This record gives sequence, C-alpha cells and structure tokens, in this order.
Amino acid sequence: MLKRISVAIMVLCLLGTVAGLTAQQGSEASVVRRAVRPGRARPMFGQWLDELSEAYEQNDREKMGELIEQMKQNRQRIGGRRGAAGDRRDSLQGRAVSGSPVDSRPIASRDADKKILSVLENMNANQRRGMMNVPPEDGRVLRLLTEAVGARKVVEIGTSNGYSGIWFCLALRSTGGKLITHEIDGARASLARENFKRAGVDDLITLVEGDAHEEVTRLKGPIDVLFIDADKEGYMDYLNKLLPLVRPGGLIIAHNTNMRSQMQDYIKAVTTSADLETVFLHEQRSGIGVTLKKR
Ligand SMILES: C[S@@+](CC[C@H](N)C(=O)[O-])C[C@H]1O[C@@H](n2cnc3c(N)ncnc32)[C@H](O)[C@@H]1O
Repeated sequence: MLKRISVAIMVLCLLGTVAGLTAQQGSEASVVRRAVRPGRARPMFGQWLDELSEAYEQNDREKMGELIEQMKQNRQRIGGRRGAAGDRRDSLQGRAVSGSPVDSRPIASRDADKKILSVLENMNANQRRGMMNVPPEDGRVLRLLTEAVGARKVVEIGTSNGYSGIWFCLALRSTGGKLITHEIDGARASLARENFKRAGVDDLITLVEGDAHEEVTRLKGPIDVLFIDADKEGYMDYLNKLLPLVRPGGLIIAHNTNMRSQMQDYIKAVTTSADLETVFLHEQRSGIGVTLKKR
C-alpha cells in the first residue's frame, strides 16, 4: 500500500498537479489521507491507485492524465456532497451518487438482457484493470442514447475488451441494430471477442482489428451513433472522416471530454458549427460530449 501511495504521489508531483490541488482544496497528501480513511471511498481509491500505478509502470501518460483528472473531479464532487444523507453505491453504477434517494439501475426486460448485464457486472469486477473502460454509469448513457435514437448502425472507435460495446448491445437488441467496433491492440481484441460470445452478443458485432484511422475509410453510412473512445489526439481525424457518414439526427459521442487540452480541435469543431448541437455531460466521471448532427 505504501509503495502504491508513493507511486501515486510521485506521479502527481511529476505532472505538477499537487500545486494546483493544494491551492484549490488542500494538499494531495491530504487527498490520500482522507480517501483511505475507513468509511470513505476506500474501494474506489484502491482501484484508482492500482490503475495509476499500472499506468505509471507502463509510462502511459495519457492514462495518468485521465486518472488524475478523475480524482480532481471526484474531489470536487465529494466536497459538494460531504455528509449528504442517502449517498449510495451500486455495482452497475460503480460509484456513489450524490444524495440520491432513488436507486436507479438497469432492469433486464428479457433473459438475454439478464445475461448481458451479468457479463457486464463480471467484467466490471474482474477485467477493468488496464482496459480503460468507460465507467458503468457512462455505459448506461451510451445504451440509453442508442436506444433513444433507434440506432441501426453504431460505430465505435476503441473496443478495448468490449465493455462499452456490450452496453451498446443492450440497446441494439431492442432496435435491431448492429455495432462495428475498432481496436488496434490484438490482445484486447481477442479478449473482446471472448466477452462478446460470453454475453451472447457476438451476432450483433463486427470487430475490425487494425488502425481505425485507416480502417474507417472503408465504412459506409448511414451511421446512427458514432462513439469515439480511442487516441485523444485522433478525435478530430475520426470526426473529419466519419461525420459525412452520420445521418442527420444521428449522434457523435466522445468519451473523456474532460481531457480538453488533448482534444481542443475536436471540442472547437463540435461547438462552433451551425450544423451541430453539442452538450457535455461533465457530471459523468470522464466527461461525455454528445453531439447531434442537425442536418
Ligand atoms: C479507452 S480504451 C476503449 C475503452 C472501451 N471503449 C470501453 O469502454 O470498454 C481505448 C482503446 O482504443 C484503442 N486504440 C487506440 N488507438 C487506436 C487506433 N488508432 N485504432 C484502433 N484502436 C485504437 C486502444 O488500444 C484501447 O484499447
């Protein structure tokens, strides 16, 4: 534990965030002390620290930046709700929800959905490490938006082990649609294939292995939902290549929009065009940009 804490502090120092946090909310050391106090968010913090240590060992600066951003966001949220009654935590939500008296979780309406939800639950508990998956609450947003637009064709950039893809399939079972998902990493792609089978959704998914910047040039429209969750500096290229294929009334969903500095061009493009309407769900841990293609 001590080793993990020192890795975390070293990384935070390296990235120069301690100073910022100190000015705003007290030293990072106190963040650590408070987070590990009994009765606080110990499991979440432990998971965060594991992921941070792993990212540090792999010198994955993008992931480190994302995790530090998440911690800052959580700190702000915790500050806002400290002591609030009714906080809760459930496994498909994955984090406490501020002061909510309402227990909201996905309820399976078919046996097939039960199987999908149980695989998601299992992946969330056992496979999250190193997979950079969307949090469960973001998975629910993806499912809801996809079902709401009656999507027949969803394109995902960044499959990883298939966690978000399986959330999409909850919607696609209802809409009769299909998912095309792209992954550059062979090991993650094979794990995703196994997970799709386990969840009983492999018939709904085409997994394209390779560099999505090249592979997407072979796609055909119309796309109802485009989900971008891969190399942050590549978001603009994906948008340029795929926006013409998104149907009017379709959605472009970008994950990790809290990492603004790495996707300034993308954020500018989706917020300054008269043909697009964009909102940011920044209450979600990593930030989700939802863009409607108006015409
Ligand atoms: C944040 S993870 C995706 C997580 C996934 N959407 C989920 O929630 O389960 C990003 C993934 O994009 C993949 N990736 C990065 N650059 C890529 C590229 N140029 N083409 C295809 N996949 C890429 C990475 O290997 C990684 O698995």
